[in-house]
Amino acid sequence: MTQRQMHLGLFLLGTGSHSAGWRHPGAVDTFQDFSAIQRIGASAERGLFDLIFMGDNLNADPRAHPSYTLRLEPLTLLSALATGTHRIGLGATVSTTYSDPFTVARAFASLDHISGGRAAWNAVTTSNAAVGANFGTVHPDHARRYEMAGEFVDVVKGLWDCWDDDAVVADKVGGLYIDPSKVHALRHAGEFFKVEGPLNIGRAPQGRPVVLQAGGSNAGLQLAARTADVVFSVVQDYDEARASYADLKSRLPQFGRSARDVTVLPGVMPVVGRTDREAREKLNQLQAYIGTETAMAVLSERFGHDFSGYALDAPVPELALPDTYHAFTRVLLAKARREQMTLRDLYSLTAAARGHWVLCGSPETIADTLQTWFEGHAADGFNIMPPYFHEGFDDFIDGVVPILQERGLFRTRYEGSTLRDHLGLSRPAPVR
Ligand SMILES: Cc1cc2nc3c(=O)[nH]c(=O)nc-3n(C[C@H](O)[C@H](O)[C@H](O)COP(=O)(O)O)c2cc1C
Repeated sequence: MTQRQMHLGLFLLGTGSHSAGWRHPGAVDTFQDFSAIQRIGASAERGLFDLIFMGDNLNADPRAHPSYTLRLEPLTLLSALATGTHRIGLGATVSTTYSDPFTVARAFASLDHISGGRAAWNAVTTSNAAVGANFGTVHPDHARRYEMAGEFVDVVKGLWDCWDDDAVVADKVGGLYIDPSKVHALRHAGEFFKVEGPLNIGRAPQGRPVVLQAGGSNAGLQLAARTADVVFSVVQDYDEARASYADLKSRLPQFGRSARDVTVLPGVMPVVGRTDREAREKLNQLQAYIGTETAMAVLSERFGHDFSGYALDAPVPELALPDTYHAFTRVLLAKARREQMTLRDLYSLTAAARGHWVLCGSPETIADTLQTWFEGHAADGFNIMPPYFHEGFDDFIDGVVPILQERGLFRTRYEGSTLRDHLGLSRPAPVR
């Protein structure tokens, strides 16, 4: 039996995941420069990553993380990136609250054709209530957003299944282009969407593009367990990560799925130095770049709570779960309680990697920790969030990846050509 291997995703934010990473000397300081993103894509492929993942948000807050304020539209960007990369998966975020299933199914099927089977859709519900104003509507509440999301994902998958693989005959002699018996309407009429189908693009190279999910609330986990191929989790602590990994995997059988059907990738921001001490100094330097306004904006956004007027050196106050993010709030508050943090500690942590896990150390230290988490079933791999580019990512690829490879924990070459191949997922048959 072959050894279980890790999967690695790159969480791409052009100015780095650290809120102030762009201030590091020589770091990329824009998320709108395609040539810089091409170089990052080439690095990720050199590192044999499974996929590049692009988040998205639908509003601009000038006080927020720079790559959340100014960014290229993910599908446009990944379509361009598909032409210069060859094997790596390409995952883009599109909201189920602020889009429509026909457009989403069509766009990701197109990306799958363009990239030769490397497309993935991160289905998010959109947390930020300010987005409603950009779409002329009132932001639905958390429960409603997830109800819509469930139906939305079903319709998208249904549309991807409308065409049989051999529906296009293109018989030059006989003159038959499409075999109509192999094209199926969807005829969906649900609570939120009415979609007749079929889609106007043939079955995708992967059958269905890969579906990513990142919700950590009960509703988010249920949606992930029912529909997702890859789940991004929010973690701060090993025991907690093991528990949330087990929780998600235990939800799969009720949907006729097994543990191997879903890859769980916790987000982690690695700060790599030649020694643990050098890494700690790098992180301290990055932390010193954080501006109060951005830190407060990130903290308030993550907690759905306005912290202006709070004393920074007082203990973290009691807070209810907000309508925005359940997982981030739960995980960060638990860490704050465990470590008796002040609001200033919490704000530094949140501003560092926007609430994700920060792992600091030499390549060996980082590889050891990732190995422990992987072997302890706290993760199937990791969503790597470099603090800044390019050095902050190259440090990981050139320092940590070779150690993981030497230990047999990570691939030494791409075996297949599609993202499903990298993830060990079979090409699904249409469900009708
Ligand atoms: C790694 C990761 C990436 C995410 N990317 C996005 C994103 O690009 N856009 C977005 O609106 N939400 C994003 N989210 C938010 C989640 O999809 C989800 O909507 C949010 O965590 C609230 O869900 P919950 O209350 O179920 O935790 C991301 C979350 C994680 C953990």
